[in-house]
Amino acid sequence: MADYFGETHRAQWKTKAGFILAAMGSAIGLGNIWRFSYLCYENGGGAFLVPYFIAMAVVGIPLMLLEFGLGHREKGSAPLSFRKIAPGWEWLGWWAVIFVMFGIVMYYSVVISWCLNYLFYSFNLSWGSDPNGFFFNKFLAVTSGPGKIGDIRTPIVASLVGIWLINWLIVFFGVEKGIERANKILMPLLFAMTMGLVIWALTLPGAKIGVVKYLKPNFTQLKNPSVWIAAFSQIFFSLSLGFGIMVAYASYLPRRTDITKSAIMTTLGNCVYSLVAGFAVWGTLGYMAYVKNLPIEKVVKQSIGLAFVAYPQAISLIPSFARLFGVLFFSILVFAGISSSISIIEAFTSAMIDKFRFERKTIVSILCLLGFFGGMLFTTGAGIYWLDIVDHFLNSYGLVIVGILECILIGWIFKASKMRRHINEVSAMKLGVWWDFSVKFFTPAVLILILASSLYEEFASPYGGYPVVSLILLGRDWLLATLIGAVIISRYKWQPANNE
Ligand code: PHE
Repeated sequence: MADYFGETHRAQWKTKAGFILAAMGSAIGLGNIWRFSYLCYENGGGAFLVPYFIAMAVVGIPLMLLEFGLGHREKGSAPLSFRKIAPGWEWLGWWAVIFVMFGIVMYYSVVISWCLNYLFYSFNLSWGSDPNGFFFNKFLAVTSGPGKIGDIRTPIVASLVGIWLINWLIVFFGVEKGIERANKILMPLLFAMTMGLVIWALTLPGAKIGVVKYLKPNFTQLKNPSVWIAAFSQIFFSLSLGFGIMVAYASYLPRRTDITKSAIMTTLGNCVYSLVAGFAVWGTLGYMAYVKNLPIEKVVKQSIGLAFVAYPQAISLIPSFARLFGVLFFSILVFAGISSSISIIEAFTSAMIDKFRFERKTIVSILCLLGFFGGMLFTTGAGIYWLDIVDHFLNSYGLVIVGILECILIGWIFKASKMRRHINEVSAMKLGVWWDFSVKFFTPAVLILILASSLYEEFASPYGGYPVVSLILLGRDWLLATLIGAVIISRYKWQPANNE
């Protein structure tokens, strides 16, 4: 068909390892390090691993297979792939890539820039003896609420420029020369540094107290549905599913490739990484509890505080090479963050190239500028509130709705069995009908449950105790604006490929 979807010039990964590292790079992010450790701690310690690994097996792997299979089969970004399956569904692909590009990556990069600042602060342990006051009052200069904007924080903006320059430099050079090459450097370094930190943390006195706290199972917690919901939501976010990212990454795979093996490796790699990184986090916290002779509950309060308050406090207490310890920890966060943020930019870039035949270099430059300026919204004294609200709405609703609709589209409209046949054709390990069952019934059912429980809580009490008007303007309306943007953009005409 001499259609609009020319394939001849589609970029391709040079090696299979390059693709897997890039997919893992997207999945392994800030969330694996502090969000996972904190969730474990809050939701039953080691017992949380039960719902977490169940969620990985029954929803994580099947959906990763779905997104890889879709991108590979249709050779397109999310909007193009959805359109090829059912033209009326193009908007769904746009919605995913729009709310990640004009939402998630904007605040995500701001958090990476906090980490970059802290990397520099580690050189002279700038947080001093009051890391809490330093973080909230001095560094963020937090205002009294989301409606009170306060000033733009220059140090945050300065590192934000740096982060966007790096994002730009990597995505600018394209799939193979930019993204693949960057991940081939970043990921092995990330793994090595994480192992170094884990070993270091575990040799500190008292590390065991933290590890016990992290992993000691409290099985009665498993009766609590919110623990299960936390596990399933974390799997979704952590694997970068429902963002159109894995679809775009898989679209650059050659025809002959093993989808099943890649999906399992990416998923397992991500989850095992979280588990291992938890030892570094908790070992260090255990050490701090030991030195200060305080129960661990007293040293950790919330998840953001874990990285920027509790951890800095612990770093200052390390007997030798404390600065190096800090630099190591925050470099890990920066590396993990960048390999994720570039995947978001690529998901949108790839969609724009598919539809409008933009020159990569032009569109990437425009996007990085927009991303930076959009990110500025989160660099004020109210930034942390804004970030929290936008994050809550985009993740609890955007992501989950895309996930549900994706399952309906592939499972029911396209037919799960057809996609399974495609995946099995190229993979050594064959999927059974269980996969159809997961895509058609189980995964959407779980996601609908998560959605219903979020909606219920939304109406039961305003999220985070914020004023309702801020939640509506920043949360609901942000989500709606991206949806409207998606519908509009899906109405535009597709540009034919230049070579046709
Ligand atoms: N998976 C990443 C993490 O766990 C987050 C992420 C979200 C990455 C969205 C890409 C897109 O931190």
